[in-house]
Amino acid sequence: MKAVILVGGLGTRLRPLTCNTPKPMIPLVNQPFIEWMLLRLRDQGIDEVILAVQYLADRFYAILGDGSRLGMKLHIVEEPEPRGTAGAVKNVEHLLDGPTFVFNGDVMTDLDLQAMLAYHRERQSKITIALTPVEDPTQFGLVEMDANHQVTRFLEKPRVEEITTNLINAGTYIIEPEMFRYVPPNQFYMFERGLFPVVLQTRDPMYGFPSRAYWTDIGKPQTYLDVHHDILIGKVKFDFHGHEIANRVWVAGEASIHPSAQIVGPVVIGDGTVVERGARIIGPSVLGPRCHIGPEASLEGAVLWENNVIGEGVTIRNSVLGRGNTIGAKCFISDGAIIGDDCGIGPENRLERGIRIWPGTTLGEQAISF
Ligand code: GDD
Ligand code: MG
Repeated sequence: MKAVILVGGLGTRLRPLTCNTPKPMIPLVNQPFIEWMLLRLRDQGIDEVILAVQYLADRFYAILGDGSRLGMKLHIVEEPEPRGTAGAVKNVEHLLDGPTFVFNGDVMTDLDLQAMLAYHRERQSKITIALTPVEDPTQFGLVEMDANHQVTRFLEKPRVEEITTNLINAGTYIIEPEMFRYVPPNQFYMFERGLFPVVLQTRDPMYGFPSRAYWTDIGKPQTYLDVHHDILIGKVKFDFHGHEIANRVWVAGEASIHPSAQIVGPVVIGDGTVVERGARIIGPSVLGPRCHIGPEASLEGAVLWENNVIGEGVTIRNSVLGRGNTIGAKCFISDGAIIGDDCGIGPENRLERGIRIWPGTTLGEQAISF
Protein backbone atom coordinates (compact mmCIF):
# COMPACT_ATOMS: atom_id res chain seq x y z
CA MET A 1 0.00 0.00 0.00
CA LYS A 2 1.18 3.51 -0.79
CA ALA A 3 0.94 6.77 1.08
CA VAL A 4 1.52 10.42 0.29
CA ILE A 5 2.73 12.72 3.06
CA LEU A 6 2.12 16.43 2.56
CA VAL A 7 5.16 18.29 3.78
CA GLY A 8 5.02 21.51 1.83
CA GLY A 9 3.96 24.03 4.48
CA LEU A 10 6.32 26.74 5.65
CA GLY A 11 5.78 26.10 9.35
CA THR A 12 5.37 29.82 10.07
CA ARG A 13 3.57 29.21 13.37
CA LEU A 14 6.59 27.30 14.67
CA ARG A 15 9.10 30.04 13.97
CA PRO A 16 11.85 30.57 15.01
CA LEU A 17 12.36 26.78 15.21
CA THR A 18 11.50 26.44 11.52
CA CYS A 19 13.67 29.35 10.31
CA ASN A 20 16.47 26.93 9.40
CA THR A 21 14.69 23.58 9.62
CA PRO A 22 11.67 22.48 7.57
CA LYS A 23 8.78 21.64 9.89
CA PRO A 24 8.81 17.86 9.22
CA MET A 25 12.55 17.77 9.99
CA ILE A 26 12.34 19.32 13.42
CA PRO A 27 13.41 16.82 16.02
CA LEU A 28 10.98 15.00 18.23
CA VAL A 29 12.93 13.47 21.11
CA ASN A 30 16.15 13.73 19.08
CA GLN A 31 14.72 12.14 15.92
CA PRO A 32 13.44 14.09 12.88
CA PHE A 33 9.65 14.03 13.11
CA ILE A 34 9.27 12.75 9.54
CA GLU A 35 11.48 9.78 10.37
CA TRP A 36 9.22 8.77 13.24
CA MET A 37 6.26 9.09 10.92
CA LEU A 38 7.84 6.96 8.18
CA LEU A 39 8.73 4.22 10.66
CA ARG A 40 5.19 4.25 11.97
CA LEU A 41 3.85 3.77 8.44
CA ARG A 42 6.30 0.98 7.73
CA ASP A 43 5.31 -0.79 10.95
CA GLN A 44 1.66 -0.57 9.90
CA GLY A 45 2.25 -2.16 6.51
CA ILE A 46 2.84 0.89 4.29
CA ASP A 47 6.20 0.45 2.59
CA GLU A 48 6.10 2.93 -0.28
CA VAL A 49 5.77 6.60 0.52
CA ILE A 50 5.75 9.74 -1.58
CA LEU A 51 6.84 12.92 0.18
CA ALA A 52 5.17 15.89 -1.50
CA VAL A 53 7.55 18.75 -0.73
CA GLN A 54 7.47 22.35 -1.87
CA TYR A 55 11.02 23.37 -1.21
CA LEU A 56 14.33 22.02 0.17
CA ALA A 57 13.86 18.61 -1.51
CA ASP A 58 17.65 18.12 -1.30
CA ARG A 59 17.54 18.55 2.49
CA PHE A 60 14.93 15.79 2.72
CA TYR A 61 16.96 13.63 0.35
CA ALA A 62 20.17 14.16 2.35
CA ILE A 63 18.56 12.77 5.49
CA LEU A 64 16.14 10.19 4.12
CA GLY A 65 17.65 9.18 0.77
CA ASP A 66 15.56 6.63 -1.12
CA GLY A 67 14.22 5.23 2.15
CA SER A 68 16.28 2.03 2.10
CA ARG A 69 17.92 2.89 5.43
CA LEU A 70 14.42 2.81 6.94
CA GLY A 71 13.45 -0.33 5.05
CA MET A 72 11.02 1.33 2.69
CA LYS A 73 10.72 2.88 -0.75
CA LEU A 74 10.64 6.65 -0.71
CA HIS A 75 9.96 9.15 -3.50
CA ILE A 76 10.70 12.82 -2.76
CA VAL A 77 8.79 14.98 -5.22
CA GLU A 78 9.14 18.77 -5.30
CA GLU A 79 6.29 20.88 -6.69
CA PRO A 80 7.10 23.51 -9.31
CA GLU A 81 5.08 25.93 -7.18
CA PRO A 82 2.77 25.46 -4.17
CA ARG A 83 -0.11 23.31 -5.38
CA GLY A 84 -2.23 23.16 -2.21
CA THR A 85 -3.05 19.95 -0.37
CA ALA A 86 -5.07 18.23 -3.15
CA GLY A 87 -2.97 19.72 -5.98
CA ALA A 88 0.14 18.26 -4.34
CA VAL A 89 -1.30 14.75 -4.54
CA LYS A 90 -2.59 15.37 -8.09
CA ASN A 91 1.03 16.21 -8.95
CA VAL A 92 2.11 12.65 -8.01
CA GLU A 93 -1.02 10.91 -9.35
CA HIS A 94 1.08 8.91 -11.84
CA LEU A 95 2.69 7.09 -8.89
CA LEU A 96 -0.65 5.95 -7.39
CA ASP A 97 -2.34 2.67 -8.21
CA GLY A 98 -5.03 1.95 -5.64
CA PRO A 99 -6.57 3.33 -2.46
CA THR A 100 -3.92 5.62 -1.02
CA PHE A 101 -3.30 7.03 2.42
CA VAL A 102 -2.70 10.78 2.49
CA PHE A 103 -1.26 12.40 5.61
CA ASN A 104 -0.82 15.96 6.73
CA GLY A 105 2.86 16.03 7.66
CA ASP A 106 2.47 17.90 10.93
CA VAL A 107 0.25 15.62 12.95
CA MET A 108 1.41 13.22 15.64
CA THR A 109 -1.02 10.33 16.00
CA ASP A 110 -0.99 6.61 16.70
CA LEU A 111 -4.19 6.01 14.74
CA ASP A 112 -4.77 2.37 13.74
CA LEU A 113 -4.33 2.58 9.96
CA GLN A 114 -5.33 -1.02 9.24
CA ALA A 115 -8.61 -0.51 11.12
CA MET A 116 -9.24 2.61 9.06
CA LEU A 117 -8.52 0.72 5.84
CA ALA A 118 -10.91 -2.10 6.79
CA TYR A 119 -13.60 0.52 7.51
CA HIS A 120 -12.96 2.21 4.14
CA ARG A 121 -13.31 -1.12 2.30
CA GLU A 122 -16.39 -2.29 4.22
CA ARG A 123 -18.26 0.85 3.28
CA GLN A 124 -16.92 0.97 -0.26
CA SER A 125 -15.95 4.50 0.53
CA LYS A 126 -14.22 6.69 -2.06
CA ILE A 127 -12.78 9.08 0.52
CA THR A 128 -12.45 8.30 4.21
CA ILE A 129 -11.42 11.09 6.58
CA ALA A 130 -10.06 10.33 10.05
CA LEU A 131 -11.75 12.52 12.66
CA THR A 132 -10.68 13.52 16.13
CA PRO A 133 -12.46 15.48 18.86
CA VAL A 134 -10.94 18.84 19.87
CA GLU A 135 -11.97 21.58 22.27
CA ASP A 136 -11.74 24.43 19.76
CA PRO A 137 -12.48 23.49 16.13
CA THR A 138 -11.91 27.03 14.79
CA GLN A 139 -8.29 26.24 13.83
CA PHE A 140 -9.27 23.07 11.95
CA GLY A 141 -11.69 21.55 9.41
CA LEU A 142 -15.06 20.81 10.98
CA VAL A 143 -16.76 17.63 9.72
CA GLU A 144 -20.46 16.78 10.12
CA MET A 145 -21.77 13.26 9.46
CA ASP A 146 -25.12 11.49 9.31
CA ALA A 147 -26.03 8.46 11.47
CA ASN A 148 -24.13 6.15 9.07
CA HIS A 149 -21.01 8.30 9.32
CA GLN A 150 -21.38 9.58 5.76
CA VAL A 151 -19.93 13.10 5.63
CA THR A 152 -22.64 15.72 5.14
CA ARG A 153 -20.68 18.93 5.60
CA PHE A 154 -17.03 20.04 5.60
CA LEU A 155 -16.22 23.49 6.88
CA GLU A 156 -12.59 24.62 7.01
CA LYS A 157 -11.69 27.00 9.88
CA PRO A 158 -15.30 27.54 11.07
CA ARG A 159 -16.29 30.70 12.90
CA VAL A 160 -17.37 30.21 16.51
CA GLU A 161 -21.08 30.54 15.63
CA GLU A 162 -20.71 27.85 12.94
CA ILE A 163 -19.53 25.12 15.33
CA THR A 164 -21.96 22.20 15.44
CA THR A 165 -19.65 19.36 16.50
CA ASN A 166 -16.27 18.88 18.18
CA LEU A 167 -15.14 16.43 15.47
CA ILE A 168 -12.52 17.77 13.11
CA ASN A 169 -10.50 16.54 10.16
CA ALA A 170 -7.51 14.79 11.73
CA GLY A 171 -5.40 15.09 8.56
CA THR A 172 -5.36 11.39 7.59
CA TYR A 173 -7.32 10.29 4.53
CA ILE A 174 -7.79 7.19 2.39
CA ILE A 175 -8.61 8.22 -1.17
CA GLU A 176 -9.46 6.18 -4.26
CA PRO A 177 -7.32 7.48 -7.16
CA GLU A 178 -10.38 8.05 -9.39
CA MET A 179 -11.33 10.96 -7.08
CA PHE A 180 -8.43 12.92 -8.52
CA ARG A 181 -10.40 13.40 -11.73
CA TYR A 182 -12.16 16.20 -9.86
CA VAL A 183 -8.85 17.94 -9.08
CA PRO A 184 -7.70 20.35 -11.80
CA PRO A 185 -4.09 19.66 -12.89
CA ASN A 186 -1.22 22.12 -12.54
CA GLN A 187 -2.93 24.53 -10.22
CA PHE A 188 -3.40 25.32 -6.55
CA TYR A 189 -6.26 23.26 -5.16
CA MET A 190 -7.11 22.16 -1.62
CA PHE A 191 -8.88 19.12 -0.23
CA GLU A 192 -10.44 21.25 2.45
CA ARG A 193 -11.91 24.06 0.35
CA GLY A 194 -11.98 22.27 -3.04
CA LEU A 195 -12.24 18.49 -3.36
CA PHE A 196 -14.27 17.69 -0.22
CA PRO A 197 -17.00 20.26 -0.92
CA VAL A 198 -17.11 19.05 -4.56
CA VAL A 199 -17.49 15.40 -3.50
CA LEU A 200 -20.40 16.41 -1.25
CA GLN A 201 -22.08 17.71 -4.43
CA THR A 202 -21.26 14.70 -6.63
CA ARG A 203 -22.44 12.39 -3.80
CA ASP A 204 -19.59 9.95 -4.15
CA PRO A 205 -19.41 8.04 -0.84
CA MET A 206 -17.28 9.97 1.62
CA TYR A 207 -17.12 8.72 5.22
CA GLY A 208 -15.75 9.99 8.51
CA PHE A 209 -13.70 7.65 10.71
CA PRO A 210 -13.93 9.02 14.25
CA SER A 211 -11.20 7.89 16.60
CA ARG A 212 -9.93 8.62 20.09
CA ALA A 213 -6.36 7.69 19.18
CA TYR A 214 -3.62 10.03 20.41
CA TRP A 215 -3.66 13.12 18.18
CA THR A 216 -1.81 16.45 18.26
CA ASP A 217 -0.98 19.01 15.61
CA ILE A 218 2.70 19.68 16.29
CA GLY A 219 2.67 22.93 14.34
CA LYS A 220 2.59 25.40 17.27
CA PRO A 221 5.24 26.03 19.94
CA GLN A 222 3.06 25.02 22.87
CA THR A 223 1.85 21.82 21.19
CA TYR A 224 5.44 21.03 20.20
CA LEU A 225 6.38 21.05 23.88
CA ASP A 226 3.19 19.19 24.87
CA VAL A 227 3.95 16.40 22.39
CA HIS A 228 7.38 15.93 23.95
CA HIS A 229 5.90 15.72 27.40
CA ASP A 230 3.21 13.26 26.19
CA ILE A 231 5.81 11.02 24.55
CA LEU A 232 8.05 11.04 27.61
CA ILE A 233 5.25 10.19 30.02
CA GLY A 234 4.17 7.35 27.71
CA LYS A 235 0.88 8.72 26.36
CA VAL A 236 1.95 7.74 22.86
CA LYS A 237 4.17 4.83 21.82
CA PHE A 238 7.73 5.88 20.97
CA ASP A 239 11.02 4.00 20.77
CA PHE A 240 13.65 6.12 22.50
CA HIS A 241 17.19 6.08 21.14
CA GLY A 242 19.70 5.00 23.77
CA HIS A 243 19.77 2.73 26.77
CA GLU A 244 17.86 3.18 30.01
CA ILE A 245 20.49 3.90 32.69
CA ALA A 246 17.99 4.53 35.48
CA ASN A 247 14.23 4.61 35.87
CA ARG A 248 13.02 6.31 32.67
CA VAL A 249 16.38 7.94 31.97
CA TRP A 250 17.59 7.09 28.46
CA VAL A 251 21.11 7.96 27.37
CA ALA A 252 22.40 7.62 23.83
CA GLY A 253 26.05 6.76 23.08
CA GLU A 254 28.72 8.53 25.04
CA ALA A 255 26.98 11.00 27.33
CA SER A 256 28.83 11.93 30.51
CA ILE A 257 26.96 12.70 33.71
CA HIS A 258 28.70 13.93 36.86
CA PRO A 259 27.92 11.71 39.86
CA SER A 260 26.58 14.70 41.81
CA ALA A 261 24.10 15.63 39.04
CA GLN A 262 20.48 14.78 39.73
CA ILE A 263 18.44 13.28 36.88
CA VAL A 264 14.76 12.56 37.48
CA GLY A 265 13.06 10.78 34.56
CA PRO A 266 11.51 10.79 32.14
CA VAL A 267 14.63 12.28 30.55
CA VAL A 268 16.37 11.52 27.25
CA ILE A 269 20.02 12.55 26.86
CA GLY A 270 21.72 12.65 23.45
CA ASP A 271 25.09 11.27 22.41
CA GLY A 272 28.12 13.25 23.54
CA THR A 273 26.24 15.44 26.02
CA VAL A 274 27.95 16.44 29.26
CA VAL A 275 26.06 17.18 32.47
CA GLU A 276 28.26 18.88 35.05
CA ARG A 277 28.48 18.90 38.83
CA GLY A 278 25.31 19.61 40.77
CA ALA A 279 23.11 20.09 37.69
CA ARG A 280 19.47 19.00 37.96
CA ILE A 281 17.57 17.62 34.98
CA ILE A 282 13.94 17.01 35.85
CA GLY A 283 11.66 15.22 33.41
CA PRO A 284 9.94 15.39 31.14
CA SER A 285 13.04 16.80 29.45
CA VAL A 286 15.11 16.09 26.34
CA LEU A 287 18.77 17.07 25.89
CA GLY A 288 19.98 16.88 22.30
CA PRO A 289 23.36 15.46 21.26
CA ARG A 290 26.59 17.30 22.18
CA CYS A 291 25.05 19.70 24.70
CA HIS A 292 26.98 20.94 27.69
CA ILE A 293 25.00 21.55 30.87
CA GLY A 294 27.02 23.68 33.29
CA PRO A 295 27.38 23.26 37.04
CA GLU A 296 24.27 23.82 39.18
CA ALA A 297 22.06 24.42 36.14
CA SER A 298 18.44 23.40 36.63
CA LEU A 299 16.30 22.14 33.75
CA GLU A 300 12.69 21.00 33.96
CA GLY A 301 10.27 20.35 31.08
CA ALA A 302 13.04 21.55 28.76
CA VAL A 303 13.61 20.51 25.15
CA LEU A 304 17.10 21.22 23.81
CA TRP A 305 18.28 20.39 20.30
CA GLU A 306 21.96 19.67 19.68
CA ASN A 307 25.13 21.67 20.54
CA ASN A 308 23.77 23.94 23.26
CA VAL A 309 26.08 25.27 25.94
CA ILE A 310 24.24 26.07 29.17
CA GLY A 311 26.13 28.15 31.72
CA GLU A 312 26.48 27.77 35.45
CA GLY A 313 23.33 28.19 37.50
CA VAL A 314 21.00 28.63 34.51
CA THR A 315 17.32 27.72 34.97
CA ILE A 316 15.27 26.44 32.02
CA ARG A 317 11.63 25.46 32.50
CA ASN A 318 9.06 24.43 29.89
CA SER A 319 11.00 26.02 27.07
CA VAL A 320 12.65 25.01 23.79
CA LEU A 321 16.16 25.76 22.53
CA GLY A 322 17.09 25.11 18.89
CA ARG A 323 20.67 24.25 17.97
CA GLY A 324 24.01 25.79 18.83
CA ASN A 325 22.99 28.32 21.49
CA THR A 326 25.17 29.61 24.30
CA ILE A 327 23.32 30.60 27.45
CA GLY A 328 25.27 32.68 29.96
CA ALA A 329 25.42 31.99 33.69
CA LYS A 330 22.30 32.48 35.81
CA CYS A 331 19.89 33.09 32.93
CA PHE A 332 16.28 32.28 33.73
CA ILE A 333 14.31 30.87 30.79
CA SER A 334 10.72 29.76 31.38
CA ASP A 335 7.03 29.50 30.39
CA GLY A 336 7.23 28.49 26.75
CA ALA A 337 10.20 30.62 25.71
CA ILE A 338 11.51 29.57 22.28
CA ILE A 339 15.11 30.30 21.36
CA GLY A 340 16.10 29.79 17.71
CA ASP A 341 19.54 28.61 16.60
CA ASP A 342 23.02 30.05 17.21
CA CYS A 343 22.01 32.65 19.78
CA GLY A 344 24.42 34.06 22.33
CA ILE A 345 22.53 35.00 25.46
CA GLY A 346 24.67 36.86 27.97
CA PRO A 347 24.54 36.14 31.71
CA GLU A 348 21.53 36.93 33.90
CA ASN A 349 18.85 37.45 31.25
CA ARG A 350 15.23 36.54 31.96
CA LEU A 351 13.40 35.10 28.96
CA GLU A 352 9.81 34.20 29.80
CA ARG A 353 6.18 33.87 28.74
CA GLY A 354 6.46 32.56 25.20
CA ILE A 355 9.19 35.02 24.15
CA ARG A 356 10.63 34.03 20.77
CA ILE A 357 14.29 34.76 20.07
CA TRP A 358 15.25 34.66 16.38
CA PRO A 359 18.33 32.71 15.15
CA GLY A 360 21.64 34.48 15.51
CA THR A 361 20.48 36.91 18.22
CA THR A 362 23.08 38.17 20.67
CA LEU A 363 22.02 39.59 24.02
CA GLY A 364 24.41 41.30 26.43
CA GLU A 365 24.53 40.68 30.15
CA GLN A 366 21.17 41.48 31.83
CA ALA A 367 19.77 42.87 28.55
CA ILE A 368 16.33 41.58 29.53
CA SER A 369 15.92 41.44 33.27
CA PHE A 370 13.89 42.77 36.16
N1 GDD B 1 3.16 19.62 -0.78
C1 GDD B 1 2.37 20.53 -0.24
N2 GDD B 1 1.96 21.59 -1.02
N3 GDD B 1 1.99 20.42 1.06
C2 GDD B 1 1.18 21.38 1.58
C3 GDD B 1 0.75 22.49 0.84
C4 GDD B 1 1.16 22.58 -0.55
O1 GDD B 1 0.84 23.53 -1.28
N4 GDD B 1 -0.03 23.26 1.66
C5 GDD B 1 -0.07 22.65 2.84
N5 GDD B 1 0.68 21.52 2.82
C6 GDD B 1 0.88 20.55 3.91
C7 GDD B 1 1.43 21.17 5.18
O2 GDD B 1 2.85 21.04 5.21
C8 GDD B 1 0.79 20.31 6.27
O3 GDD B 1 1.54 19.14 6.52
C9 GDD B 1 -0.54 19.91 5.66
O4 GDD B 1 -0.41 20.07 4.23
C10 GDD B 1 -1.73 20.74 6.16
O5 GDD B 1 -1.45 22.11 5.98
P1 GDD B 1 -1.47 23.15 7.21
O6 GDD B 1 -1.06 24.47 6.66
O7 GDD B 1 -0.72 22.61 8.36
O8 GDD B 1 -3.03 23.20 7.49
P2 GDD B 1 -3.80 23.47 8.86
O9 GDD B 1 -3.06 22.87 10.00
O10 GDD B 1 -4.15 24.91 8.93
O11 GDD B 1 -5.17 22.63 8.62
C11 GDD B 1 -5.15 21.32 8.10
O12 GDD B 1 -4.86 20.36 9.12
C12 GDD B 1 -5.86 20.26 10.16
C13 GDD B 1 -5.41 19.15 11.08
O13 GDD B 1 -4.19 19.47 11.66
C14 GDD B 1 -6.51 21.03 7.46
O14 GDD B 1 -6.41 19.81 6.77
C15 GDD B 1 -7.62 20.96 8.51
O15 GDD B 1 -8.85 20.60 7.90
C16 GDD B 1 -7.26 19.93 9.57
O16 GDD B 1 -8.25 19.92 10.59
MG1 MG C 1 -1.23 22.03 10.35
